[in-house]
Amino acid sequence: MTRKLIIDCDPGQDDAINLFLALPPTDDYEILGITVVAGNVGLDKVSRNARLLCELTGRTDIPVYEGCAAPLKYPLVTAEEVHSREGLEGVELFEPSVKAQSQNAVDFIIETLMAAEDKSITLLPTGPLTNIAAALQKEPAIAGKIQEIVLMGGALREGGNITPSAEFNIYVDPHAAQIVFDSGCQCIVFGLDVTHQVLSSDAVLERIKAVDNEVAQTAYNLLTFYGRYDAEKYGSNGAPLHDPCTMAYILKPELFDLKACNIRVEADSELTRGHTAVDFWYATELPRNSLWAYKVDADGFFDLLVGQLGKY
Ligand code: BDR
Ligand code: CA
Repeated sequence: MTRKLIIDCDPGQDDAINLFLALPPTDDYEILGITVVAGNVGLDKVSRNARLLCELTGRTDIPVYEGCAAPLKYPLVTAEEVHSREGLEGVELFEPSVKAQSQNAVDFIIETLMAAEDKSITLLPTGPLTNIAAALQKEPAIAGKIQEIVLMGGALREGGNITPSAEFNIYVDPHAAQIVFDSGCQCIVFGLDVTHQVLSSDAVLERIKAVDNEVAQTAYNLLTFYGRYDAEKYGSNGAPLHDPCTMAYILKPELFDLKACNIRVEADSELTRGHTAVDFWYATELPRNSLWAYKVDADGFFDLLVGQLGKY
């Protein structure tokens, strides 16, 4: 059976690269829709960006749905300092000809899942988990329809990137994250421990630049801007490709080492809001609700990325 995906995102520089990985036409999987959520920038901008990226890749056949404009309980926190004021830098921005669907993303997720067979649809969230949690709250029966939730979020050994202990996506909506981890669905979690192993180094950028098509050149421009911020902040050679770990996992799961762990989220503490308590060494007997990614074959990851970009 062809794998069916819904990509939930907040583009976002690295969300854009994740879409570039996902969007070359293929018979191996079907993208039922792209749902957007406020995160890196506000909802209007992530919607425009998602549709623009679909146009750029020639995938206007994929419908885009707008979801939640703010987290479940907290006010929205955005990340313009990383992704620029518009959420994308390095792409010439334009108003896409394709409009967003009139149906709300949360209702699209519910309707699509409820019409599907059990455990038949994979969700790929690469922003705050608000849309997914809102759907689970509104129609808990969708949990049985989900094959896997392959998400970018959290941190264990690396520490946080928005506070000393929290990763951005989980920090923005920790209540939503807890709902997702408690849902009973198989969660496959790509946090900073693994995403910090895939850096857009100069050598990687040169490989991408050598791919002769418009999408690859856009990826090169996006990553050149994106790398600058992280190079200054962390002193690293390039920026971590956080979100693309999710699609890389769908395309080539053997690139990653995973361990079954319990994950809980600190939602309310002022100091550690958004911290993911990943029980890596089994200090508790809590149910292992997630597979936590802790190692990646970075060379294999970049071979995959360059290969996918070459398909445009
Ligand atoms: C995550 O936060 C966002 O800024 C990125 O798009 C990624 O999803 C990394 O912490
Ligand atoms: Ca993101």
